[in-house]
Amino acid sequence: MGEMQRDVVVVGAGASGLTAANELKKAGHSVVVLEARDRVGGRLWTDTIDGAMLELGGQWVSPEQDALKQTIAELGLERYSRYRDGDSVYLDASGRLTRFTGEIFPVPAATEKVMVELIEKLDGMVAQVDPNRPWETPNAEELDRISFTGWLEQQTDDMEARDNIALFIAGAMLTKPAYSFSALQALLMAASAGSFSHLVDADFILDERVVGGLQQVPLRLAERLGDDVLLNNPVRALRWGDDGVTVTTDSVEVHAKQAILAVPPHLISRVSFEPPLPRLQHQMHQHLSMGFVIKVHAVYERPFWRDAGLSGTAFSPYELCHEAYDNTNFGDERGTLVGFVSDTNADDVFRLPAEERRARILESLSHYYGPEAQNPVVYYESDWGSEEWTRGAYAASFDLGGLARWGADLRAPVGPIWFSSSDLAGEGYQHVDGAIRMGRLTAEKVAERL
Ligand code: FDA
Repeated sequence: MGEMQRDVVVVGAGASGLTAANELKKAGHSVVVLEARDRVGGRLWTDTIDGAMLELGGQWVSPEQDALKQTIAELGLERYSRYRDGDSVYLDASGRLTRFTGEIFPVPAATEKVMVELIEKLDGMVAQVDPNRPWETPNAEELDRISFTGWLEQQTDDMEARDNIALFIAGAMLTKPAYSFSALQALLMAASAGSFSHLVDADFILDERVVGGLQQVPLRLAERLGDDVLLNNPVRALRWGDDGVTVTTDSVEVHAKQAILAVPPHLISRVSFEPPLPRLQHQMHQHLSMGFVIKVHAVYERPFWRDAGLSGTAFSPYELCHEAYDNTNFGDERGTLVGFVSDTNADDVFRLPAEERRARILESLSHYYGPEAQNPVVYYESDWGSEEWTRGAYAASFDLGGLARWGADLRAPVGPIWFSSSDLAGEGYQHVDGAIRMGRLTAEKVAERL
């Protein structure tokens, strides 16, 4: 068992932990980052599968994500726009396909009116939410007591309007059924991206990518830390007290003045604490859980949908793949589609044998793009639910009532132990931008304490 002494020990080499470690190092403090996996990046993972470069985890950058954009620029990386020329497609409950441009789905006029009104109403409510203090929103407790489904049912009887508005938060963002999280949690999701309208606008929320892949952000951040990033070192135990912390993995013991747990909150209890964390943290962490989505990658010889004047952008709350996009890599002649299968749909298809699941998913893509979609040259499903050190995707959120009850305590340090991840962020919540913001903020507070 090796032994090390540092000012700060960071647990987790995702975007948040690596940002915090770099900031502390810049401020003159000694750090070490302990990472469970054999790679850095956590939920950022750019890999080559059967000859195709795929973004298995996070990839998109949107205009309001200043922290991420700054980091990308500072690391010398380049951004490029997602392909979006041509028509988007929408499938209604009967399976009828309609091409459209703009943000609002091509639904019957009465449904469109309801959707526009709901978006306006939600934008108004979101404007009252400080994403860093959503529990201070007017009527926060009331809004946290009702599910997003329940709230939508109070607004309108129009099923298609409800299904579509729910999709923007449930299938597309929190990746949980809309009956399982609160209206307040939905408002936080929208407030963290600037407005509800931003979530409706795919050109905004999925605006840009990074040439060569977004995992380069954590890879380059880790390079700057050199030997102070230790891979294959899951943290098993953390002893803490007034004089600091001792963090133990299978091969090393680190003594430090402060510790940053830069892991999603549902994984905190994987570490044995001595003494145990206070009852508040024990309770709170049990009410935060990961959403679940399969990110499906299908690579074709050519981006054939473009020949038909399609942008590749596709939506339907009634399809197995509820949304899909042109995800062709920068400068690549081959065409890539990425589709998403969320929450209960993901549960259902994971009960099937792999071949049947693939066939069902590709058939769903073919409903948007035609039969050619059924014959990719490379096919891959990102399954973060099976990853021991993540256990879902994209991120964690509270169950009903949790945000108003515990939100204010989520980031509070416990003695020398600090918490940092995209799942605790205000702006950029559930996104890499939020992970970086949290990393910076936590480093600042830890440095003050040191
Ligand atoms: P993250 O989970 O990345 O890092 C935590 C690290 O801690 C991991 O490396 C883990 O192995 C490690 N760890 C856990 N327990 C440990 C222990 N006991 N000991 C040591 N190490 C431990 N965002 C975005 O901005 N745009 C997008 O397009 C997407 N899309 C997207 C798709 C998919 C499929 C996923 C899974 C996620 C996204 N996201 C996204 C979300 C984004 O990827 C995510 O919010 C951030 O990368 C999270 O960074 P963190 O550093 O907070 O956690």
